[in-house]
Amino acid sequence: MGLKISNLVKDCVLVPVYKEKNSIKYFENKKNEELKKDISKYFNFFNFEGKEGESLFFNIEKQKILVYSIKKEYSLEDLRIAYSNIFKILKSKKEKNVSIEIPKEDELELKAILEGIELSNYKFDKYISEKENNFEIELNLDIDKKYNNLLEETLKICDNVKIVRDLVSENADITTPKFLENIIVNFAKKHKLKVKVLDEKEIQKEKLGLLWAVGKGAKNPPRLIICEYYGNPNSKDLKALIGKGLTFDTGGLNLKPSNYIEDMKLDMAGAATVYGIFKSAIELNLKQNLVLVISSAENAISGNSYKPGDVFVSHKGISVEITNTDAEGRLVLADAMSYIQKNFKISQIFDFATLTGASMIALGTQTAAIFSNDDLIVENLKKASQISGEKIWQLPIFDEHRDFLKSSIADTLNCSKERYGGASSAAAFLEKFIDKNIKWVHFDIAGPAFSKKPYNYVSEQGTGSHIRLMLNYLKNN
Ligand code: BES
Ligand code: ZN
Ligand code: ZN
Repeated sequence: MGLKISNLVKDCVLVPVYKEKNSIKYFENKKNEELKKDISKYFNFFNFEGKEGESLFFNIEKQKILVYSIKKEYSLEDLRIAYSNIFKILKSKKEKNVSIEIPKEDELELKAILEGIELSNYKFDKYISEKENNFEIELNLDIDKKYNNLLEETLKICDNVKIVRDLVSENADITTPKFLENIIVNFAKKHKLKVKVLDEKEIQKEKLGLLWAVGKGAKNPPRLIICEYYGNPNSKDLKALIGKGLTFDTGGLNLKPSNYIEDMKLDMAGAATVYGIFKSAIELNLKQNLVLVISSAENAISGNSYKPGDVFVSHKGISVEITNTDAEGRLVLADAMSYIQKNFKISQIFDFATLTGASMIALGTQTAAIFSNDDLIVENLKKASQISGEKIWQLPIFDEHRDFLKSSIADTLNCSKERYGGASSAAAFLEKFIDKNIKWVHFDIAGPAFSKKPYNYVSEQGTGSHIRLMLNYLKNN
């Protein structure tokens, strides 16, 4: 798809409108003014009422016109959804050469519109013989050339969201820990970044006992992958982006049943997400010091799988009684967190993980549960979420959640025996591995990282969610 800034006359013109009382109005952008005088004459004829989301496609002589009605007082997310719908209409009409009008020239609005269009133009079709998506559409925006940079940056971010979608949707037998290692090592080479990978031998040597416990049963051995970027060398601030990279989660010996196991290739979405954030931050030259950490393993069943009831000692020294081998994500994250805090001077940790079904029970499939020990960061993340349209909701860690994890034979259980409050008790486990004075946010993206159905501008399968939110945060904080 081509999306570019140009004002040539096109086969088809998109005109956004809104409804006020009972009349249909144009936004105040002063575009296509002559044409609009003509268009208005047809509304009655076609019974076009201009209700939100209503569209009208017709010709005036050879000029094709798509009118689409948006709320008068729209949010950025309303724009994203509206232009996603517009894109789908144009695609269904096979309109190849379209001039897109926008309500007003505003950076955030323009960005949202581009995202709505660009993120809708995606399907995971690698394994489909007859691809529907090879339809080329050229969209032209009649706006000031000064927005060219913004356009390019936004397209870059959207491309990265799609790379993450592809990674999450790909077969688990392809996206192994070693495969993730290769991606990061190649990326590091390209950008001359420092990268370090602990393989199965070094994981044991460095005593990452929890990551090893989870990974040791699989034919595809585990990896801890670390890559550094210093975009603000004068600052001591260093943020860690840590991702859960379970390339497949069978549940281990506490095997997941049918209806729960089928989507578990998604369980490396946290890793893919932090890669998408890190890659974009570098390509946009963000003034941030970042360390990317991917803790990757396959939770498999074999004679060498870790066993319920056994105790493993973590990298930090905390011993863990395994009550459930399906609560493996917190284990691989715990070792990654303590390793990174020991070896780097980290100021903030952001971890992304498809950690609990309980977060989906609480919030549904479109919202990430977040947990944090710092209110200011949460406030700023909420602002970033308002802009990106990716929803977050803070959940608590209370003492009762911590109490759920008491063990009589080890320092802690990995998994609460209490079924309720599962997202919070998982976060309470992670909290044990955060050093004093380190600011920390845990994103449980089990719901939004993957979707069974496409909705708005979000794809089915891997969604690439919460990358744009985090980039907005990193731009401003
Ligand atoms: N990867 C799953 C969580 C998950 C579930 C992600 C559904 C996406 C969709 C995680 O490792 C897991 O199995 N969690 C268990 C924890 C339980 C054993 C306390 C869960 O949520 O059922
Ligand atoms: Zn699991
Ligand atoms: Zn898992």
